[in-house]
Amino acid sequence: MVERAVYGDADVDATCLHGRRVAIIGYGNQGRAQALNLRDSGVQVRVGLRPGSERWQVAQADGLEVDAITNVVRRADVVMLLVPDEVMGELYAQAVRANLKPTAVLGFAHGFAVHYRLLEPQSGAFVVAPKGTGVALRTHYLDGTGLPAYVAVYRHDDHEGLALALAYAQAIGCSRRGIFRTTFKEETESDLFSEQAVLCGALGLLLRQAFEVLVEAGYDPRLAYFECVTEAKLVCDLLVAEGFSAFGEKISNTAELGGHMAGEKIIDQQDVKTKMRRVLQDIQNGTFAQAFVADYNNNFRQLNMYRTAWQNHPIDKAGAEVRQLTQP
Ligand SMILES: NC(=O)c1ccc[n+]([C@@H]2O[C@H](COP(=O)([O-])OP(=O)(O)OC[C@H]3O[C@@H](n4cnc5c(N)ncnc54)[C@H](OP(=O)(O)O)[C@@H]3O)[C@@H](O)[C@H]2O)c1
Repeated sequence: MVERAVYGDADVDATCLHGRRVAIIGYGNQGRAQALNLRDSGVQVRVGLRPGSERWQVAQADGLEVDAITNVVRRADVVMLLVPDEVMGELYAQAVRANLKPTAVLGFAHGFAVHYRLLEPQSGAFVVAPKGTGVALRTHYLDGTGLPAYVAVYRHDDHEGLALALAYAQAIGCSRRGIFRTTFKEETESDLFSEQAVLCGALGLLLRQAFEVLVEAGYDPRLAYFECVTEAKLVCDLLVAEGFSAFGEKISNTAELGGHMAGEKIIDQQDVKTKMRRVLQDIQNGTFAQAFVADYNNNFRQLNMYRTAWQNHPIDKAGAEVRQLTQP
């Protein structure tokens, strides 16, 4: 069990990164934000991309040095793999492993590939997982607030690796808000669970079902969208900012009592928890990871089916109209 520490600026030794070369592999959501934040924090960064990548020019236009992945890896002391989780195993085997310096440390923004053994680090490895999108990571770096992050090291007793990971987290702006110590296992499994059980799974379906009920009953789809989706953000912001008890005081009594009464009718709490536990089990025993990699190997047939279903749903048309009509 690792110590459940939360680190801030005062706990970080920024000199751990001094004189070290960081390779950022991939220049997508996280890659771009992390590379720019590191560069602006004075860290030596190079971006590694595959030949023909359209992002090669984007990174150069951002003022970064770019080269082929193998070349960038060869010279790096820290190699941060910021490519999609499903490709990390083959990328590591094909372009990274043979080119790593023996002392180089591997970094990840999510522990998936290591936890589910798509690759096995030969030396040190850490996770620095910012709690937000790449755009948010960059925006909050620039406005001085930063994003919180989780940090984990591959070997729990790797104190040097932890110090390096903390310095890395600070350089991308996360020590301003708090860095939570965790493990590869806990970071990976809890992140997948929240995505599946709430954020990208059940929440979206709940909003969509509520939208459908109102529209099928004859209500204006734009109002249905506003009520069921737009206002969900207001509620989430309030819950995150002030907590569940204060939330009750900020909404009307009508909303509060009506919400409790109907919520219990809609959500069968025991049944939902049983189903959530099954989802968690599939994450813990690797069933989900296997299915995910199998779908990737099948050209994401299942994922594309879901994408098409959502794209063709009237909720998106209503959302676009609401956004256009309510622009500030
Ligand atoms: N999305 C987020 O905000 C977020 C938040 C927290 C953690 N994470 C984690 O951060 C990591 C990166 O996620 P991401 O969303 O930033 O990824 P992403 O945007 O999808 O990554 C795109 C980059 O990966 C490169 N890439 C894709 N397949 C490749 C391959 N087979 N070989 C070499 N390069 C390849 C792309 O190259 P080209 O330029 O050639 O297309 C591109 O530069 C993941 O571990 C993810 O779980 C993401």
